[in-house]
Amino acid sequence: MGKDLREKADNVFMKLPLGEDKVGHSRAVCECAEKIANNMKKKGVEVDLDVVYAAALLHDIGITKAPFKSEAEEEENPWPEHAVEGAKIALQGGLPDSVAEAIQAHEQLGFNQTEMDELKFVAPAVGKNWGSDSTESKIVAAADQVVYIVRHMQLDAWKDQDAILKANFSYVDTLYKKRTGRGVKRDHPALIRMIERTREILPYIQPNEVPAPWKGISVLKTPKGPSE
Ligand SMILES: [Fe+2]
Ligand SMILES: [Fe+2]
Repeated sequence: MGKDLREKADNVFMKLPLGEDKVGHSRAVCECAEKIANNMKKKGVEVDLDVVYAAALLHDIGITKAPFKSEAEEEENPWPEHAVEGAKIALQGGLPDSVAEAIQAHEQLGFNQTEMDELKFVAPAVGKNWGSDSTESKIVAAADQVVYIVRHMQLDAWKDQDAILKANFSYVDTLYKKRTGRGVKRDHPALIRMIERTREILPYIQPNEVPAPWKGISVLKTPKGPSE
C-alpha cells in the first residue's frame, strides 16, 4: 500500500506541466514534510508517512489549472482555489481522500467558514469544507509555510517572531482587497490562527533540516510586511 501510494503520487506529479520553481518547491516541501513527520513519529505521534509524502509532493499541482500564467501575475492574484483543483487532480489520479484532504487543506490556512464565505472560496472537492484536522494535513501545511518562509522569503522562522506574519500578510491582505474591497490588519483572527498553526509544528523541524535552495527558486527578497 505504502509503496503504491508513493508511486501513484510520483506518476501524477511527473505528468503535470509544472515550472522549474514549482517542481523545486514541491520537492522541498515534500522533503521538509517527511522530516517533520519522522520527527513527530519519534516523539510518539501517530502519522502516516506515505500520505504525508503524497500530499506534500502534490500540494500545489492545482496551480496547473490557474487562470494566470506568470509568476508575477500569481503574486498579484492570490488563488487559494489551486488547493481544491489539486485535490480533484489527485482523486482523479486514484489517490485516497486522506491525500486529497491534506492537499485541499494546505490553503485553508487560518480561515474559518465565515471568512471563507466572505472570501467566496469555492466548494471543497472532498469533505464538507476546506479544513482538515488530520496530522498529515497539518504537517503538509506547515512544511509549505516553512519552505516559503525560509527559502522563498529568506526569513528565520524560529528566531524572528514576526516571520510567519511577514510571509503571509501580503497574501491575505491582497486576497481580502481583491475579494471584499478592503484589506486586513496585522491582528486579523485568520492571521493569528495561521501563525499558531505553524508554530505548533515548528518544534518538529530544525533550521538545518529545511532543504537547500534549488535551481530555479524564486526568492522574494522584499517581503511586504504589514503596516501598523
Ligand atoms: Fe499552495
Ligand atoms: Fe506550496
